Amino acid sequence: MRVSIGSDHAGFEQKQALVDYLVGKGYDVIDRGPDNDDRVDYPDYAAPVAHDVADGVAERGVLVCGTGIGMAMAADKVPGVRAANIINSEFAALCREHNDANVITLSGRFVPLEENERILDTFFATDFGGGRHAGRVQKIMELD
Ligand code: RB5
Repeated sequence: MRVSIGSDHAGFEQKQALVDYLVGKGYDVIDRGPDNDDRVDYPDYAAPVAHDVADGVAERGVLVCGTGIGMAMAADKVPGVRAANIINSEFAALCREHNDANVITLSGRFVPLEENERILDTFFATDFGGGRHAGRVQKIMELD
């Protein structure tokens, strides 16, 4: 699976560690930056990752900022993206099963790296449930 990943300065340290984690697990990772922890604006890094997913360059996107909230707001503006800000594994499973989320946004300041690794494991391992959820997701996409 090809994964596009980015962060801001608040998520930089975890983003670097998560790139190594995902590469170690065999994922094909596109790192959209930044390449240092200088202060940046998170929408500038949400945009390329969101477009990678919307354009089919990557199957999934991962974004890390202080909370994950701003990254989710920015990424979800790109048509075709369903971004979810996730802080535990249960929600990681549900955002895939019920919402078919294709971008996950993480907190680099409030969630430890080991928990974000578990969250990503769940996010990538869980399929969309379809069925009664399919029409609801379709209605979300009609809002694009
Ligand atoms: C940066 O200070 C912080 O606002 C950003 O990383 C993120 O948490 C925004 O949602």
